[in-house]
Amino acid sequence: MTTIPAPARRTPAEGRFTFTATTPLTADPALARAATWLRESLTPATGLPLPDGPGGVELRPADGLGPEEYRLTVTGESVLIEAATPTGAFYGAQTLRQLLDPAAFRSGRVADRTWSVPAVVIADAPRYGWRGCLIDVARHFLPKNDLLRYIDLLAMHKLNVLHLHLTDDQGWRLQIRKYPKLTEVGAWRRESPLGAGRPRRFDGRPHGGYYSQDDIREIVSYAADRFITIVPEIDLPGHTQAAIAAYPELGNLDTPLDVRTQWGVGENVVNVADGTIAFFTDVLEEVLELFPGPYVCVGGDETPKTQWNESVPAKERIRELGLRDADELQTWFMRHFTDFLLARGRKPLGWDELMEGGLPPGVTVASWRGARCTALAARSGHDVVVSPFAETYLDFRQAEGAQEPVPIGSVTSLSAVYAFDPIPGGLTGQERGRILGAQAALWTEHIDSPRLLDYMAFPRLAAFAEAVWSDERDFADFLVRLAVHEKRLDALGVEYRPAAGPHPWQQRPDSPGHPLTRAEIDGKLAAWTANLRF
Ligand code: ACM
Repeated sequence: MTTIPAPARRTPAEGRFTFTATTPLTADPALARAATWLRESLTPATGLPLPDGPGGVELRPADGLGPEEYRLTVTGESVLIEAATPTGAFYGAQTLRQLLDPAAFRSGRVADRTWSVPAVVIADAPRYGWRGCLIDVARHFLPKNDLLRYIDLLAMHKLNVLHLHLTDDQGWRLQIRKYPKLTEVGAWRRESPLGAGRPRRFDGRPHGGYYSQDDIREIVSYAADRFITIVPEIDLPGHTQAAIAAYPELGNLDTPLDVRTQWGVGENVVNVADGTIAFFTDVLEEVLELFPGPYVCVGGDETPKTQWNESVPAKERIRELGLRDADELQTWFMRHFTDFLLARGRKPLGWDELMEGGLPPGVTVASWRGARCTALAARSGHDVVVSPFAETYLDFRQAEGAQEPVPIGSVTSLSAVYAFDPIPGGLTGQERGRILGAQAALWTEHIDSPRLLDYMAFPRLAAFAEAVWSDERDFADFLVRLAVHEKRLDALGVEYRPAAGPHPWQQRPDSPGHPLTRAEIDGKLAAWTANLRF
């Protein structure tokens, strides 16, 4: 059995179920969405019509199973998927697809093949409810069709949250009807740095793109059909230079700004004027119309306070409100948006820097600066989504050596991602219960194409998927299954990193990196979190 992620329990049996042109597929109406997906995903490669009817593959409701749980029973005569929800049935259907020959993952007819699956009983459910992946479409835009392809890849790995980082200094990627300049001006930059080398060199090539609101409706619906919730992120109050370039009144300076062409943390943050709060409330109104999921991320990360510390209106706000400092001003500013989301029945998500000025009530913390931040957030009574950069940031290089494309960060190997455990030591049972799950992150400063995205994402995202789905882990066994899984990825055209290292065309000798050691990364982490009280 070679499925990824590994199921909780499986009992192999004798024999195989063989599909024929007359094998029927039937589903209770409650599970119809999963049945639709199964038929649509199996038919292109296999040509199997899977006509409606009893006596072949059946999706059947079952009481007493969890919301994402399923049972898959294959005998020589039938295939039965039981679940309490369409989501559970969908994961059963995903597992069934992986039991077929990897050629089942091709998009066109594979001739001369008998399609069969081994007899087995699988009882399966995920370890965590939040199994996410962040894709940064701001630094490099991911065209809509590539994003849809990623939604399929996430679903194949039983991941269920796509965190879309839609806005940043270097680009605003979401059409907002009320403020058209956000995309007219903010969706493109003049040029980009070539790699991460110092001194910087630039490529002299404009970069841009954005999703129209019709695109977003399509993406959200496509994801929902695959049981993936999209968490949109509008990053505030830092990472906003593209918005300030479009609407200079949002900034702290008198001089106009360009959409940022440098990477790294920028000094330009939005001001704390009433008009700015109203502007981003309007933006969030449109975000809520487009994204029906419970969570909306409002950022809060990496906000230098330099401009606020020098700004007369910001200093006046601090004094008027009796705040201690600019960190507390950030919390005050962010509360407008987190309270707004709560009042609309949504759940605000924010990065762990928000703890520096006091966490706004009701905010779920996206913890990226390590286990201490995760523990602090959980102890303070907040739900937490865990995404530590040293283990789950998939823009970090996969191995030592200059052959890796644009090597940055420390080495985040396949085995390190596989070993990742979201739960820090020393938490009580109740605190552990606040950890909703985890997400991997594909930040794209140095990932400028869908091909390179494949290289950085895979196979590490498969290892991550198992880390958040499966209770038991065995890396040697994972590697055996991965050898088959790579054939599935080949069939899908995913340009993953070969275990022996990149193909020549996956290297980027034109684009220098800036690799760090793990000790340097740990040092940065210690400095960033030194002022957090534990
Ligand atoms: C982050 O990596 N700035 C969340």
